[in-house]
Amino acid sequence: MKISPPTENALQKAVEILQQGGLVAFPTETVYGLGADASNPEAVKKIFAAKGRPANHPLIVHIGDLQQLSQWAIEIPEIALRLAAAIWPGPLAMILKKQAHVSEVVTGGQDTIGIRMPDNPVAIALLQQFKGGLAAPSANRFNCISPTRAEHVLSELGASVDMILDGGACKVGLESTIIDLSSEQPTLLRPGHITPQQIEAIIEQPVLLKQQNEIRAPGMLELHYAPTTPAALCANEHLPQQLQKFSAEGKQTALICRRSSAIKDSHMTTKALPDDPEGFGQALYAALRDIDLLKLDFIIIEQLPQHPEWMAVNDRLLKSTAGRILS
Ligand code: TXA
Ligand code: MG
Repeated sequence: MKISPPTENALQKAVEILQQGGLVAFPTETVYGLGADASNPEAVKKIFAAKGRPANHPLIVHIGDLQQLSQWAIEIPEIALRLAAAIWPGPLAMILKKQAHVSEVVTGGQDTIGIRMPDNPVAIALLQQFKGGLAAPSANRFNCISPTRAEHVLSELGASVDMILDGGACKVGLESTIIDLSSEQPTLLRPGHITPQQIEAIIEQPVLLKQQNEIRAPGMLELHYAPTTPAALCANEHLPQQLQKFSAEGKQTALICRRSSAIKDSHMTTKALPDDPEGFGQALYAALRDIDLLKLDFIIIEQLPQHPEWMAVNDRLLKSTAGRILS
């Protein structure tokens, strides 16, 4: 069996696989990562092949010890050290100028490197025993939903990964916040559990928000983090009417919503997720995967408040639905 509980033996085996240039999937607090020795370009190339990921998409290097930061990055600004001290291990990746030795395979040809220290005991044990950096994107096929359980990795990448360490369900469930600290102004590249407000409070300067939620042509947004079943957002007040419409058209439809918005006495497949943004974000990807397995015609997802605390969830929902909103 490729999935192993994280015993001492399994960790030792995982380290050997990595040292020999193999691929090990491991849990982090955000999502499962597909890991390879970041200092071995041939090993890192296997990640791109397994995921079907274009070579110009850079990977995040994971470290298990703050001392290793300067082995990967140069010209590390003081605010990066402050963020590392305050948040690592934790769901924040920083983009910094890379050391000359860092392979272009890892950085997708850029002169910067993404780096983070994950907050998960299995990930930290693996990194500390491996003693090096692990390049690890989310352990899913390119543009598909990130895995939040070991079984998700097995079903999607089982054939191409040498071992999957099982750490149970990921506690955050959405990918890390990414902050670019390699240029003049700190810029948020991907929203996540760590909010721009938290970062601003630590670095005592404003964080620029990249206009990632801008939809230039509705429906034309690149599909990312996407289920295979077509999906669209729908405001809470339009849910009953839209569900009725889809059902009248004979479409097999599932609903993902907050628990408090679930429609009573409905026979439709419903994933009622926690009402708070952390709980909703933690459960979202597993819910999308479960529904995908049912091979229905459509997924309607409740549109959530446009509040800062929902920023990460809203970002992923926008990408899962290509910005499509039913009204
Ligand atoms: O939560 C996470 O970050 C997970 C777990 C496994 O740690 N990893 C993850 O990796 O989400 P991935 O490859 O799926 O997403 C990494 C993102 C990509 O969007 C990539 O473009 C960006 O990080 N990235 C990595 N290095 C970069 C760089 N040097 N400059 C700009 N963006 C970078
Ligand atoms: Mg990914």
